[in-house]
Formats: sequence, C-alpha cells, structure tokens
Amino acid sequence: MYDNWEELEQSIVNCQKCKLCQNRNHIVFGIGNKNADIMLIGEGPGADEDKQGIPFVGKAGQLMNKAFEALGIDRGSVYIANIVKCRPPANRVPEADEAEACLNYLRNQVILVKPKIIVLLGSTALKNILGKEYGITSARGKWIERKGILYMPTWHPAALLRDETKKIEFWKDLKLVIEKYHSFS
Ligand code: URA
Ligand code: SF4
Repeated sequence: MYDNWEELEQSIVNCQKCKLCQNRNHIVFGIGNKNADIMLIGEGPGADEDKQGIPFVGKAGQLMNKAFEALGIDRGSVYIANIVKCRPPANRVPEADEAEACLNYLRNQVILVKPKIIVLLGSTALKNILGKEYGITSARGKWIERKGILYMPTWHPAALLRDETKKIEFWKDLKLVIEKYHSFS
C-alpha cells in the first residue's frame, strides 16, 4: 500500500500481475477528485477506455454523464475507477484471478480518496467489493454500511443500454446518493 498518489500510479504503469496485461493499450487507473466524498466503481475498461486510458468515456459512460448532468453531479467532483485496470478481451467479465490481482490497487485508491459514499456500478463491482453472496437485482437501491463507508449498489450503465426500464431505477439510486451527500453538509 502507498500513502501517496504518485507512488501508487507509478507502481501500476508496467503492471503484469494478471493476464489482462497482454492485450491492453492503456491502463485505466481512475479519474476525478482525489478527495471526493463520492466514489464510483465500475467493472473494467472497454475499447474506448483502453484507447484513451480514461474510465467511462464510451457509450455507457456518456449515458452516465447524462444522468450526472440531470442530477446536478459534476463529473469532476467525484472519483471514478474500475475493478480491473486493463481491458478484458471482448469486454468479458473479469475472471476471479484477474479481479483478485487488481483489487489491491483499488483498495489503495479508496484509502487515499477516503470517500463517504461508494456507488457500485453493477454485479462485478458489487460482488468483488461486498461479497459473492450479493446479487445486484436485490441489492440495488439500498444502502449497505461497511467500516464507515456507505455503499449504494446500482445497475451498471451498460445495462441501461440493453434495457431502458433500468434507467428509472438507476436515476432513483443516484438521486438517493445525491440526497445523502447533501445531508452531510
Ligand atoms: N464499463 C466499465 O465498467 N468501466 C469503464 O470504465 C467503462 C465501461
Ligand atoms: Fe495489473 Fe490490474 Fe492490469 Fe491485471 S488488470 S495487469 S492486475 S493493472
């Protein structure tokens, strides 16, 4: 574990701790406010993210940005990262050994950001952070507290692209997050 961003970011640049290193163009470390109260965790980079080295810049990310705008969330005020930092082939779900190899980087990011709220975007984030026993369909939309951090599981924005009806629930969940955030100040 590192106590500063420079060393953490440096430690990841040439990472070969799992097989996802083989096909990556760019590591997608994370982006946003390094002192954010709200952190969002996705699954892993897609093609656009791999090209640019920035999380959630593709179609799913654009949809998420729209929800942010509508709810008055400034993308720059939150911190966004993923379970794995390198793109899984054909956007498959990260395998257990890959997630495990990469999770310490994310844990270190959480320690440095010190968020009050963590939004878990989809099943991969939920299961890897809170435990395999959780399912996104029943867990979403409800606060879970662990070690002083409030977790809000919700749909992954890519799921909204496949099923429009999930959009309403996604917005509802983000609205709970924003209300909770405002209740702190
Ligand atoms: N999907 C994710 O889970 N993360 C990204 O950064 C982009 C798409
Ligand atoms: Fe390293 Fe994570 Fe990339 Fe695997 S996914 S090579 S652990 S940075």
